[in-house]
Amino acid sequence: MRVAEILAAGEAMERALALLEGGDVVAIPTETVYGLAADATNGVGVARIFEVKGRPRFNPLIAHVADLAMAARLALFDPLSKRLAQTFWPGPLTLVLPQRPGNGIHPLVTAGLDTIALRMPKGFGGELIARLGRPLAAPSANSSGRISATTAEAVAADLGSRIRLVVDGGATSVGLESTIVKIEGGKLRLLRPGGIAAEEIEAAAGVKLSRGAAGIEAPGMLASHYAPGAAVRVNAAKVAKGEALLAFGPRRAEGWQGAAALRNLSETGDLREAAANLFAHMQDLDRSGAKTIAVEPIPFDGLGEAINDRLSRAAAPRDKIDAGP
Ligand code: TXA
Ligand code: MG
Repeated sequence: MRVAEILAAGEAMERALALLEGGDVVAIPTETVYGLAADATNGVGVARIFEVKGRPRFNPLIAHVADLAMAARLALFDPLSKRLAQTFWPGPLTLVLPQRPGNGIHPLVTAGLDTIALRMPKGFGGELIARLGRPLAAPSANSSGRISATTAEAVAADLGSRIRLVVDGGATSVGLESTIVKIEGGKLRLLRPGGIAAEEIEAAAGVKLSRGAAGIEAPGMLASHYAPGAAVRVNAAKVAKGEALLAFGPRRAEGWQGAAALRNLSETGDLREAAANLFAHMQDLDRSGAKTIAVEPIPFDGLGEAINDRLSRAAAPRDKIDAGP
């Protein structure tokens, strides 16, 4: 049974604030994906996030801030982190930094780590944090292991029976989660490719990103994640009869006429458009009832790295799924 109210962003502020003040969660639009937000200093609210998502407790959450002053109260910035924050915030970049001791963040948010992931979102989220005066912990607004939601309707379909309010800001503009970068001793490590291309970050930082992960640091890094109900087959040169096809660019894979359903991420081969369409198109094809979604090859440059990352996780064997407690 759906209990969530869906309110347009323009009229949702007071209701959202009241729920957050009361230790409840609210689904909010950001420029990347919808977030399931709670006051990051309120343990009851943060615990609700894990309960609603069915998320394993060891996964730390991103703390979202309204401005650089709030960020500086939570974490220790070196000159490189400051430069990246000034260049890309507000926007789809998350910085993992040393925590400032006594910052008031509930330990459930950081899963007890001595680092904290920070991001400054655009739009309604940023305004909400400024009004609340405290950071918001917000993972993507989807059940653990499922596709991230890029519309209010997708949030309501997944979590609508478990939350009170979905703030509707329309379809998100970026469509992929933020890029996560860890900064240690002047070095940058890419923990998760996302809405800002690695090349852009390297250009602003003046240093190369390293990609070698030491163990699982961001659960987006678990093999199976972002999984639709159907099986996913990437890099498909041919489409088998009855498969759904997720296309990219002007040319179609062989046998496309026999596809059970078809969506094109971008007719013109534009990777930004493809990123924005990715999750909604996967959900559409999943709803078509096809057992398998074949995906045409996507180039790896720019946002293609993050798109391929999400697709390969969706295609990974499901027994590795990060599906909660
Ligand atoms: O675009 C986004 O980033 C969206 C919107 C809502 O802001 N949020 C999002 O959150 O994708 P979530 O929780 O689905 O992914 C956050 C990732 C997780 O993979 C988590 O492990 C990682 O950030 N993370 C959080 N804190 C960390 C830390 N201290 N060190 C390393 N990774 C961390
Ligand atoms: Mg997520």
